[in-house]
Amino acid sequence: MDSLRSFLDTNKDRLVNELFELLKIPSVSADSAYSSDVFKAANFVASSLKTAGCDSVEICQTKGFPIIYGEKLIDPILPTILVYGHYDVQPADPIDLWDAPAFEPIIKKTDLHPEGAIFARGACDDKGQMYMHVKALEFMTSTGQLPCNVKFMIEGEEEVGSDNLTDFVKNNTTKLKNDVILISDTGMIAKDTPSITTGLRGLSYVEVEVTGPNRDLHSGIYGGAVANPINVLAKMIASLHDKNNHITIPGFYDKVEDLSNQERAEMAKAPFSIEAYKDALKINAVYGEKGYTTNERNSIRPTLDVNGIWGGYTGEGAKTVIASKAHAKISMRLVPNQDCHDITSLFKSHFESIAPEGVTVKVTPHHGGQGYVTPINNVGYKAASMAYKDTFGKSPIPQRGGGSIPIVALFEKELKSKTILMGFGLDSDAIHSPNEHFGLFNYFKGIETIPLFYKYFVELQSKM
Ligand code: BES
Ligand code: MN
Ligand code: MN
Repeated sequence: MDSLRSFLDTNKDRLVNELFELLKIPSVSADSAYSSDVFKAANFVASSLKTAGCDSVEICQTKGFPIIYGEKLIDPILPTILVYGHYDVQPADPIDLWDAPAFEPIIKKTDLHPEGAIFARGACDDKGQMYMHVKALEFMTSTGQLPCNVKFMIEGEEEVGSDNLTDFVKNNTTKLKNDVILISDTGMIAKDTPSITTGLRGLSYVEVEVTGPNRDLHSGIYGGAVANPINVLAKMIASLHDKNNHITIPGFYDKVEDLSNQERAEMAKAPFSIEAYKDALKINAVYGEKGYTTNERNSIRPTLDVNGIWGGYTGEGAKTVIASKAHAKISMRLVPNQDCHDITSLFKSHFESIAPEGVTVKVTPHHGGQGYVTPINNVGYKAASMAYKDTFGKSPIPQRGGGSIPIVALFEKELKSKTILMGFGLDSDAIHSPNEHFGLFNYFKGIETIPLFYKYFVELQSKM
């Protein structure tokens, strides 16, 4: 595309500095202490869309955080691309493990990123990746090269389940009408190996509480004679996997699609080194469901994981106590066809049924979402593939991802269009972890690849 490279060269510092301003806003949607910052980030996104050339930008208030909607419609005959992203971020905790403050972005060189990476919460997930789209739009409008209509919908509740976006999408299907949805909120295989995410896992997230005696007890006076809720919870959780690491909840696998041997062989062709994988995480062995490879375990297979567990005395020194209650947060990653509501109820009945005498169990569902899988024989995928080919010199590899963006399944249902997941993150970016970062290489590659997607999408669509 004309002058794309020179736009990037000329504006290099500005493109990074503007993103820094957004990263400085601690828009943590999960923690009400940050709620005014989440609104601040929403305003930032709105004004950046205006600057980038949107003709109209709305800050759509919801019961929670605003949805920013912006559009530039140049001709009703031309196709329309809908860009989705999120400006909220995960909490920075545990903050002690950050090398530098999470909301004071800095550039640091790493082995993988000798040219530097941006370190801050949200650098990759999703402020950095979302802002690539804003800057790509700015490039296209400022050089008169926007080839089609574009709509932006950027939300502030993705990290907490997108509750209000669901209604917004259902109530605004005409406004959001589009020919393809474009999202950068996933990753790619490696810095030199572009890939397009063709699947996302669904999610069922529950909190469990096991209650024993009505108060905390002396563990000598009562120990051995009443059920200890923490012992019981640990045993119940342990029983949720069998010796082959299959999940034991009756009916859990009923709707899980079995991939053909051919599909699995195709998946296995993606470049992957088990040694590098172990080394990156400093583990001496991988672990998981018998009969599946690591890449299958983290994409086409469902999981059940404890995300947090607490109860009893965890302060300094030793306190002899049998706690009255024990708690855990448990997530199940689901594959397409597994319904998240069904799975939540299967979990609930099973968990209640395995509670021994002497305790009571409460299961509280949190947010959930359906999985997503998309074919690669559509115009959007082809356009993305051509765009990557231009900027990386090789065609991207289709790959199913392990994470979840629950709203994507709803987009397809309500808006009847396909989503293209053009992610530029890397597994090593440490999203949701301390020291989250996003390579400058990845950031600029994203800004460079996006306008080419627009161009090829319009070209291919016009030949349909
Ligand atoms: N961007 C991630 C999802 C993701 C990351 C998908 C990498 C594929 C590869 C998103 O922000 C996220 O973290 N989603 C949550 C689910 C949500 C309901 C809290 C997740 O996957 O845990
Ligand atoms: Mn995200
Ligand atoms: Mn996230």
